[in-house]
Amino acid sequence: MVNIIRTENLTKIYGGNIRAIENINIEIEEGEVYGLLGPNGAGKSTTINILTTRLSPTSGKAKVAGYDIIRDSPKVRKIIGVVPQDLTADEDLTGSENLKLVSRFYDIPRLKAQERITKLLELVELDESANRYVRQYSGGMRKRLELVTGLINEPKILFLDEPTLGLDVQTRSQMWKYVREIQETLNVTIILTSHYLEEVDALADRISIIDHGKILVTDSPAQLKSNLKGDMIQLAAKNREERDLLKTYPGALEVKNDSEETGVLLKVNSSDDELPGLMKFISERNIGITRITIHKPSLDEVFLEYTGRDIREQEAEDSRKTMINMRRLRN
Ligand SMILES: Nc1ncnc2c1ncn2[C@@H]1O[C@H](COP(=O)(O)OP(=O)(O)O)[C@@H](O)[C@H]1O
Ligand SMILES: [Mg+2]
Repeated sequence: MVNIIRTENLTKIYGGNIRAIENINIEIEEGEVYGLLGPNGAGKSTTINILTTRLSPTSGKAKVAGYDIIRDSPKVRKIIGVVPQDLTADEDLTGSENLKLVSRFYDIPRLKAQERITKLLELVELDESANRYVRQYSGGMRKRLELVTGLINEPKILFLDEPTLGLDVQTRSQMWKYVREIQETLNVTIILTSHYLEEVDALADRISIIDHGKILVTDSPAQLKSNLKGDMIQLAAKNREERDLLKTYPGALEVKNDSEETGVLLKVNSSDDELPGLMKFISERNIGITRITIHKPSLDEVFLEYTGRDIREQEAEDSRKTMINMRRLRN
């Protein structure tokens, strides 16, 4: 496998002492979808901005398709596509006009540009809205336009910084379809950042969890989950004494949560192996269970394990902010 991106102790310190990223070492293989997962302020955009030559690192090195991001930055820029976190399209132009503008930026001959624009707009199903003003686009349509803006120069590598930020869950999963299609049909390596677990889980071949400017772990989502071992068995019991009894179950590696709502959470090596014994334990003690739920480890637990925090709290915070912003826009 060829490393299309390789960084060596990449570090960015803003304003003298804000350590945005510290000693980032990543290796990205050609053709893969690589995800950088982390909460707000983790250093995702800083990393992307350095790799796309918009920002210079304080120290460390990085090579993109063999080119040094500092010495060979024009060459890097030529072969990459970038979809930054913030929206870039001009609202007073149509979708098609926006793409034309960007194609001129890359000196793509007019006819060739027109051909590509038609294809790209079709790819994200904006062909019928090509001649509408971007200000009339929905949030999802705008993000789709941004997505293909990054493809106008037929890049080898596409960087997507939070491609679905602020979109609702349904629109978000529609975007994933387009990202997958791009990867399958256009032969590009994709680097995306997100703080949505489902997003990296659905899209990325490998992910790095980044927090406070440092990479904590890198692996495939499946591997990260199976490394965690242990399934969670959630047992709901109304009565406090019964819950206390459940907590004494000898097969549990760990016992968590204990309330009337959530019940008792038992961590076990394998829920498949443990269930018969657990059922016996329950019936011998006459414990009245109102519900049993089994959770195999998800990326939630992986994230919690490595960062000590729950990324969903961040998601809730985001949707609150988005709501407030939308309200402001409407007023
Ligand atoms: N231009 C800047 N000047 C000073 N600090 C910054 C600047 N940009 C980002 N930071 C800080 O660097 C850290 C990482 O930010 P960023 O890379 O934007 O994180 P993310 O994209 O993961 O949300 C944060 O603490 C942020 O406040
Ligand atoms: Mg960011």
